[in-house]
Amino acid sequence: MEGSTGGDCAALPSSDLLAWRRELLASTGGARADLDWLLDLGGGLRWPELQALHLHPHRMVWLLQPLARLEELWRQHRRTAEPLQYLVGRCPWRDLELQVGPGVLIPRQETELLVDLALALAPQTSGGVGLLWADLGTGCGALAVALARALPAGRGLAVDASDEALTFAALNRAAAGVEERFTLMRSDWWEALKPWWGELDLVVANPPYIPSITVEALEPVVRDHEPRRALDGGSDGLVALRTICAGAAQALAPGGVLLLEHHHDQSQSVGLLLEMAGMEEVQAHRDLEGVRRFASGRRRSGGGTR
Ligand SMILES: C[S@@+](CC[C@H](N)C(=O)[O-])C[C@H]1O[C@@H](n2cnc3c(N)ncnc32)[C@H](O)[C@@H]1O
Repeated sequence: MEGSTGGDCAALPSSDLLAWRRELLASTGGARADLDWLLDLGGGLRWPELQALHLHPHRMVWLLQPLARLEELWRQHRRTAEPLQYLVGRCPWRDLELQVGPGVLIPRQETELLVDLALALAPQTSGGVGLLWADLGTGCGALAVALARALPAGRGLAVDASDEALTFAALNRAAAGVEERFTLMRSDWWEALKPWWGELDLVVANPPYIPSITVEALEPVVRDHEPRRALDGGSDGLVALRTICAGAAQALAPGGVLLLEHHHDQSQSVGLLLEMAGMEEVQAHRDLEGVRRFASGRRRSGGGTR
C-alpha cells in the first residue's frame, strides 16, 4: 500500500495508514508502541496526530518518508533486532534530538534526570560563571550537550575511550551550537583530564555498570547491538565506578561534586566507594520510579587531598 509521494514525503488516507499499521503488526509481531515510535521519528507523525486519525479516517495524512521505506526499516528491526534509534539515526532525549548509530550507546530516559541533579548540586556560581565541568564516558554527548546548554557561562570537558562515541558527540555538539562550550577528548576516564586535576567543579558520569553475567541476559536489541564497552561493568559491575570514585579526591576542586549513575542494586556499594574516596555529603538519589539509581559526593571545601 502506498500513497502519492512528493519528493521524499508521502500522502495517503488515514484509513490506509491505520490498515497498514494493523496488518504490519499482525504479520511481523512487535510492540505497537515501537511501530508508533517509528511513525513519529521516521515519519514525522506525532502520537496525538496518530490517535486523531481514528476520528477522521478519510483525511489525508502526510509522512516524511514513503510508507515502503518505513516498512523496510520496521522489517529490518524485527529481523535483526537492530534498535530503531540506530535505523532512524536519531533519538529524542530531554529537549534534544540526538544523532546515534552503531558504536554508541542510545541515551536512556533515566539519565535525563542526571542533568537536573547535576544542576542542583553544582557549586553555585552566578549563572555558572567560571564553572568547570566534566562528563566522563560521554557517549553521544547527551549529558555534555545538555550541561553546555544549561551552563552557557561555564566550560566543559567531555571524554570517552571510544572513537565512534566521540564522533557522534562532536556531531551532536555542533547540532546544538555549543562547540565553544566544551572540549571533547579521547581518554581512559580521568587520564586526559590531568591538566585540570584539582580544578573540576562538577563531574558527571554514567559509566558501564551492568555486571558481565547480566549483560549476557539482556534483550538482543541491547546485547547484540549496543557497544559492550558502554554496558559491561565487569564481574560485579563496579569496575569503572571504582576507578572513577578513586580519582575524585585528586580531580575535583575543593567543594566540587561527583555525580554518578549506577545499576538499580548498587546504591550501597557506590555510596561506600564515594566515602572511601574521602567524599563528603554522600547522597543517594532516586529515579522517577523511586529507585536509587544515582549517587553523589562532594570534595571537602578547605584543604584536602590534591
Ligand atoms: C553507559 S555509556 C554512557 C554514555 C552517555 N554518557 C549516556 O549517558 O548516554 C558509558 C560510556 O563510557 C565509555 N567508556 C567505557 N570505558 C571507558 C573508559 N575506560 N574511559 C572512558 N570512557 C569509557 C563508553 O564508550 C560509553 O560511551
